[in-house]
Amino acid sequence: MSLRINDIAPDFTADSTEGEIRFHEWLGDSYAIIFSHPRDFTPVCTTEFGAVAQLAAEFEKRNTKVIGVSVDSVEDHRKWKNDIAQVAGVPANFAIIDDTSLTVAKAYDMLPAEYYLPGEGRSPADSATVRAVFIIGPDKKVRLTMTYPMSIGRNFAEILRALDAVRKTDGVPLATPANWVPGEDVIVALSLDDKAAAEKFGPLDIRLPYLRYAKDPA
Ligand code: BEZ
Repeated sequence: MSLRINDIAPDFTADSTEGEIRFHEWLGDSYAIIFSHPRDFTPVCTTEFGAVAQLAAEFEKRNTKVIGVSVDSVEDHRKWKNDIAQVAGVPANFAIIDDTSLTVAKAYDMLPAEYYLPGEGRSPADSATVRAVFIIGPDKKVRLTMTYPMSIGRNFAEILRALDAVRKTDGVPLATPANWVPGEDVIVALSLDDKAAAEKFGPLDIRLPYLRYAKDPA
């Protein structure tokens, strides 16, 4: 069964480029983004890890730790980080987990459908993790998931935008409209009537009885 929104993110202990990680303890009071990729030393993955390396300061500003996962070893990850730095122009200073045991891949259901076929004829490529993304909250709950196929590199600007939306709506009766970016108006949940909504979030822009915007309470 795959992980669902609001499930507790599975805890794990794993070796990584930054040493042993006990996931829940490592998470502490931060948000986390776990993102898996098929293999080290492959073209799309190298561009993706470079993109994450370039966004390091943005994730830090958002109190968010980033962790990469693949079925390769720490030794490979360390060598591959040199290539990532060469392509990205900045070092990849985030942890990459050694998941040669497939512990994390199985716990987070990061393996492709082929992995689950009867063993005969399964190749090592079938045990490579897919391009999965999990945003985890400080309460250890899964807040958002995305899965991309092997051939399509992820849009990390969108992942950052989604992280902003998750943090904006956490614990408050707000939601974000399509294509929202920080600073734009947000939607007030229907759990508040107009009066209570205006008292809490200021003047409302009521487009429909169920579509009420308030200024981004930045
Ligand atoms: C890539 O990242 O380019 C890639 C990864 C696994 C298989 C094929 C390509």
